[in-house]
Amino acid sequence: MDKNLIVTCALPYANGDIHLGHMLEHIQADIWVRFQKMQGKSCYFICADDTHGAPVMLKAEQLGISPETMIARVYNEHTADLKEFGISYDNYYTTNSPESKELVYDIFKKLKDNNKIATKVINQLYDETKEMFLPDRFVKGTCPKCKAIDQYGDNCEVCGATYAPTELIDAYSAVSGSKPVIRQSEHYFFKLSECTEFLSEWINSGLQSEAKNKMKEWLESGLQDWDISRDAPYFGFQIPETDNKYFYVWLDAPVGYMSSLMNYCKNNNLDFYSLWNSDTTEIYHFLGKDILYFHALFWPSVLKNSGYKTPDGLFVHGFLTINGQKMSKSRGTFITAKQFVESGLSTTYYRYYIASKLGSKIEDIDFSLDDFVARVNSELVGKFINIASRSSGFLSKQFGNKLSNVTNSALLSKITAAQSVIAQHYQEREYAKLIKIIMQLVNEINIYVDETKPWLLARDEAKSSELHETCSTLINAFRYISIYLKPIVPEIVAQIETFLNIKQLQWSDLDTNLGEHTINNYTHLATRIEQKMVDKLIEANKPEITETTNAVTSQYEPIAPEITIDDFSKLDLRVAKIVAANHVEGADKLIQLTLDIGIEQRNIFAGIKKAYDPASLVGKHTVMIANLAPRKMKFGISQGMVLAASFEDKDSGIYVLEPHDGAKPGMRIR
Ligand code: 2FM
Ligand code: ZN
Repeated sequence: MDKNLIVTCALPYANGDIHLGHMLEHIQADIWVRFQKMQGKSCYFICADDTHGAPVMLKAEQLGISPETMIARVYNEHTADLKEFGISYDNYYTTNSPESKELVYDIFKKLKDNNKIATKVINQLYDETKEMFLPDRFVKGTCPKCKAIDQYGDNCEVCGATYAPTELIDAYSAVSGSKPVIRQSEHYFFKLSECTEFLSEWINSGLQSEAKNKMKEWLESGLQDWDISRDAPYFGFQIPETDNKYFYVWLDAPVGYMSSLMNYCKNNNLDFYSLWNSDTTEIYHFLGKDILYFHALFWPSVLKNSGYKTPDGLFVHGFLTINGQKMSKSRGTFITAKQFVESGLSTTYYRYYIASKLGSKIEDIDFSLDDFVARVNSELVGKFINIASRSSGFLSKQFGNKLSNVTNSALLSKITAAQSVIAQHYQEREYAKLIKIIMQLVNEINIYVDETKPWLLARDEAKSSELHETCSTLINAFRYISIYLKPIVPEIVAQIETFLNIKQLQWSDLDTNLGEHTINNYTHLATRIEQKMVDKLIEANKPEITETTNAVTSQYEPIAPEITIDDFSKLDLRVAKIVAANHVEGADKLIQLTLDIGIEQRNIFAGIKKAYDPASLVGKHTVMIANLAPRKMKFGISQGMVLAASFEDKDSGIYVLEPHDGAKPGMRIR
């Protein structure tokens, strides 16, 4: 019986943009899926947005919108980005769905019935100002080991130590800035400690050796029960029979793999349960090395203990570096999918470049911009596409685009003979290896052109059949290489299919010659990358990705040169009440504010659109510079400036200043 494949990528969080690091994974999986489908396999390619958790809740609050509005907005952005990069999901869904809720509840009930759920009262840091328990990432303070300031509640980015948030020195809440207190709360735990035996067996199913070794280490050091609940306020699914407890986002995130498939099944008249649980179904998850822990320990154990089929393999990849530098949001060293598209660079070329570096090992991959330009221009455009352009002109002028059935079988057999090793490399995700083989074949095809010299044959009428043979050989060769490259550069191959006058190139076409087939006139298929596009991308991300030293980049700007109190008193800072706030038509960054400063009202354009919904600002107090010279802008005159805090890159947010309660419009700040 034929197998069904279920293939997933890690679900992107719904509180941020998809960047080139995410895209590496979606591309790696997409290539694999396209290859399977070309082979005629039944394969379901599934993903969703990961929508729950405290960060989503807090970000929505900061934007002054509901979490539901925010995740709907992000969903549209994510799906548009994935489409731009040619990622061919059969279903891209959301974890905030009825299917997710149904499955999470079902799994929880089965775990409970199986005696795999326990409750325990634990100590947690609580923010009394914000009235919420703080997730580890929202507590900051001084590292208890190396004393580095401003470290997260779970681990230190400077010395790498891990610890409990309660161990931080001078801890503060990253949400309100206040000092957290310890409070007790009852939490639900999944008894992972009872899963060691099962996991020791499961470890032998499709894991890369590095992942298997990591698993062994974790198993040897002993498994702890896993805290699967969080206290209100939280954005997620409420735990049944409680009034203030929610499932932790990492419990419902992987269930999103199932719920997205369930939604697909509903829309396509399939039975989800028999598809997921069938012996002839294989489940594969593509993911990054940072989330192996969740996928290798919790996820299979949760599935096993709730009676579902467990994954058949985890395909783990390393991180993406850019020009040799780590991608990090806080340092601003990442390129979003949108920025890449806006630079005018082809996403197909990014697919090709990433594939040319990917293997089956868990290794980091560098996106080197110079190498990217060189490889794409030389291999894809210069050598591969050139095969078609070097032969098509003669075919259209002299043979009415009709191919000859006489071709050079030595060359063509050599190309098709590589199909099984290329297929094996696809199957094993050894894309770099297979591209190397394909490019060696492309070199041989170009050598054949140089040796047969069709431009000379074309000058001699007596050599017409030789010319026909050469050009027909080249088109057949080009078609075979296009089949090999189709999973990687589907967009280019779609244009090639039109040129070749073939509906869909399939893997099985490697066994046939085109014979006396008629192709279409050649139209331009691919353009070289221009340096100015790369420059534009670099410009959008300066200064981080152009930096070549290993110096730790800091988000803190140096303190400005000293001033005197007289300098300061030149600034007339006033408390202002925001009486109106509106979007400015045609402006990406601005919000128009009307500020009441007691003696008069001011019109101000503030660059805070990214961080605020105008409606959420009305009625609030803030601080403005009242004696700043008015500035004429495209949209009107700005009569001053509102004060707001941000790091230089503004990626970690923009925060408008607000005085303590009691401050009145017009009061001077001194
Ligand atoms: O690390 C992340 O980006 C998570 N949103 C991945 C979730 S994967 C899965 F388990 F859903
Ligand atoms: Zn430290």
